[in-house]
Amino acid sequence: MAQALTDTVPVDQLQPLREAVQALTRLADGQASEAVFLTKGKEILAQLISQDDWLEEDFRKTHPEYYQQYLLYCDPYERFSLQSFVWGPGQSTPVHDHTVWGLVGVLQGAESCMRYRQTVGGLVSEGPAVILERGSVDAVSPTVGDIHKVSNAFSDRTSISIHIYGANIGNTRRHVFDTNTGAQKDFVSGYSSNRLPNLWDQAARIRAQVLQRSAA
Ligand code: FE2
Repeated sequence: MAQALTDTVPVDQLQPLREAVQALTRLADGQASEAVFLTKGKEILAQLISQDDWLEEDFRKTHPEYYQQYLLYCDPYERFSLQSFVWGPGQSTPVHDHTVWGLVGVLQGAESCMRYRQTVGGLVSEGPAVILERGSVDAVSPTVGDIHKVSNAFSDRTSISIHIYGANIGNTRRHVFDTNTGAQKDFVSGYSSNRLPNLWDQAARIRAQVLQRSAA
């Protein structure tokens, strides 16, 4: 439905996410290596999580039993993707790997991360667990350490992290591990919702700019 021009410029809530997507696309178009993505991508993610007002409510919702994994953006060639992970009080992942590079930035609350490595005798923890505070960014990949278990550091509140991976991670074949036996099982995580943020509808802001220009 057509909408009238208004004289107030609305806040462009999704601008920080759009700018992060554009910066990551530039890296991908330049055929950045994993090392470059982990360095430059960390800066991009740190900037994105430096403010907490751009992530819409649909992508902050908890589930009573399971942590949630919402897709925020996927590159058309699946060279990278962004997600919000939402942890209800006390929720955690199984021990798992990623098989591609990944960055984890804490947007709200805090997370506890326990890393593991595979040995001939099974899985060995590289503890103690590290607490990722709000604003911090952690990296994973088969080259820098890829197996971990992530938990909400809080038992009484929600924590949210923003992730970037070097693939469409919801479609990626990965593994979960039994810490007692070291046995691994294939899994494909998928996503918790079919909806994505609409990064490309900036009509409200543009209408306001048109009106301001015509009044000048
Ligand atoms: Fe992970």
